[in-house]
Amino acid sequence: MKFFIDTANIEQIKEAKSLGILDGVTTNPSLVSKEGIVGRDNLLKHYIEICNIVQGDVSAEVISTDFNGMITEAEELAALDPNIVVKIPIIKDGLKAIKYLTDKGIKTNCTLVFSTGQALLAAKAGATYVSPFVGRLDDVSSDGIELVYNIAEIYRYYGFDTQLLAASIRSTQHIIQCAQAGADVVTSPLSAILGLLKHPLTDSGIKKFLEDYNNTVGKK
Ligand code: E4P
Repeated sequence: MKFFIDTANIEQIKEAKSLGILDGVTTNPSLVSKEGIVGRDNLLKHYIEICNIVQGDVSAEVISTDFNGMITEAEELAALDPNIVVKIPIIKDGLKAIKYLTDKGIKTNCTLVFSTGQALLAAKAGATYVSPFVGRLDDVSSDGIELVYNIAEIYRYYGFDTQLLAASIRSTQHIIQCAQAGADVVTSPLSAILGLLKHPLTDSGIKKFLEDYNNTVGKK
């Protein structure tokens, strides 16, 4: 399973990279706006900066909701770096754009996916990634993890190449559940990734080992 970080924050991306397990980055318009980036040129520079840090796919989302606008934006984004993946929402024009871009060799991440039907269409259109939003489904009393299971089952059954990228991850437990459900990629906030490291028995074990060592071997 690949680990992506879900942020446009340069420091957090660098910290996740320093762990040695980072495979890529996802962003969205809300995440880039959090970084206080003003102006399209600065946003494009920001994407290039991220691509220079991470050796892996970096998702950058289109703002247009019509086919021509999406294609123009997608070509601009894809020209920034070979690792750019263009994020396109699963609407009618988005589906057409994914098919068009796939045929042109541009990688896509089909976003805002909340149903197996949407995921099926994304795979048929040849999306590189499909992003079911786990947390947002949980927020409305639906079951985000169940959706990941169901998409994984369908994709496995038909042998689709589209990678299942579980998004809208809110907790460390979500990462584990997505791994169990068969996600190819999980994109998470840094805090959820770091949570995987935590166990009180690891902390108390280290404490005891150090005490024992210092009381004997390490004694001066
Ligand atoms: C993926 O990149 C999605 O845009 C992102 O995970 C959405 O997360 P949110 O539901 O926490 O905004």
